[in-house]
Amino acid sequence: MDDFQGRVAVITGGGGGIGAAMAEAFAARGARLVLADLQLDAAMAVAERLHARGAEAIAVQTDVTVLDAVRALAEETVGRFGAVHVVCNNAGVATFGEIATATHADWDFTMRVNFWGVVHGVEAFLPRLLAQGQGGHIVNTASMAGLVGMQWLGVYCASKFAVVGLTEALHREVSRQGIGVSVLCPMIVATNINENSVTRRPAELRNPGEPVIPSAAGMVGSTITPEEVARRVVRAIERKDLYVLTHPDQREILKRRWVRQDRMFEPDVW
Ligand SMILES: NC(=O)c1ccc[n+]([C@@H]2O[C@H](COP(=O)([O-])OP(=O)(O)OC[C@H]3O[C@@H](n4cnc5c(N)ncnc54)[C@H](O)[C@@H]3O)[C@@H](O)[C@H]2O)c1
Repeated sequence: MDDFQGRVAVITGGGGGIGAAMAEAFAARGARLVLADLQLDAAMAVAERLHARGAEAIAVQTDVTVLDAVRALAEETVGRFGAVHVVCNNAGVATFGEIATATHADWDFTMRVNFWGVVHGVEAFLPRLLAQGQGGHIVNTASMAGLVGMQWLGVYCASKFAVVGLTEALHREVSRQGIGVSVLCPMIVATNINENSVTRRPAELRNPGEPVIPSAAGMVGSTITPEEVARRVVRAIERKDLYVLTHPDQREILKRRWVRQDRMFEPDVW
C-alpha cells in the first residue's frame, strides 16, 4: 500500500504506546483511524489528539480476547468509514518469569491477549479485506521474543513465536491477492507495557498475592521510542515488507541462532 491518504486503519491497543504512535504516523499521512482498546478512556484521549490535528478518528472499547468483540469492531469500522484497509493487531501484554514457576493463569492470560487477540483480528478483518478488493495491509505485533527464545520470557515468547508463524504463513497466502502482511518484532520500546499488563489483567486470571511489576532494567539492549517503531511500520506497509525489525543491536542474536541451526545440517556434526 503506497498511499495512506483516506485509507481506514484499525489499531488494537491503540490507546497508548506503540499503537498510539502508529495511529499518529498513519494520521499524519492522511489515514482515518479506529483506535480499539480495552481502556476506552485511553483510546479516546488518542482520538482527541488526532482530532486536534485535523484527522478523523474514533475510539472503540474492545477486548481482543473476545471474538465477538473484535467482530463488532470490524462492523463498527465499516459502518462508520465504509471500508477498512490497514489492520494492526497490536494489543499485547508482557509476562515475565521462569517457565518453572509460571502459573496456568500466566499462560492463559498471555495467550488470550497476544495470540488469540491476533487470531481474532485476522478472523474478523481478513475476509473483509479480501472481499473489498481494494488491497490493504495487516500488521501483527510480535516481538524479538517471537524470533529468539529468551530466558524469563518463556510464556511471552511462546505467544509471540505463534504470532510470527501465523504471520509468515499469512504472508505467503495473501500477498498475491494484494494484501500486504507484516510482523513487527521490536526489542525494548519505551511504553507502559509492564504496568498495563498488571492493570489490564482480568481478576479471574490474577495470581495470588501482590502483582509484581517487573523493571525493564533486567532487559538487555537499547530502548527506542514508539515513534521510531511507527516510522518503521509505515515504511514496511509502503514497501510490503514481511518483517519489521527495529533494533539493529539485536542482529547478532538472530545470526547466532541461525548459525547454530545451520551447523546442525552438516552431516559430520553428531
Ligand atoms: N514495549 C516493548 O518493549 C515491546 C517490545 C516488543 C513487543 N511489544 C509489543 O508491542 C505491542 C504494544 O505494546 P506497548 O509496548 O505499546 O504496550 P502498551 O501497554 O503501551 O500498549 C498496549 C495496549 O494494549 C491494550 N490492551 C491490553 N489488553 C488488551 C485487550 N485484551 N484488548 C484490547 N486492548 C488491550 C492496553 O490497554 C494498552 O493500551 C504488544 O503486543 C507488545 O507485546 C512491546
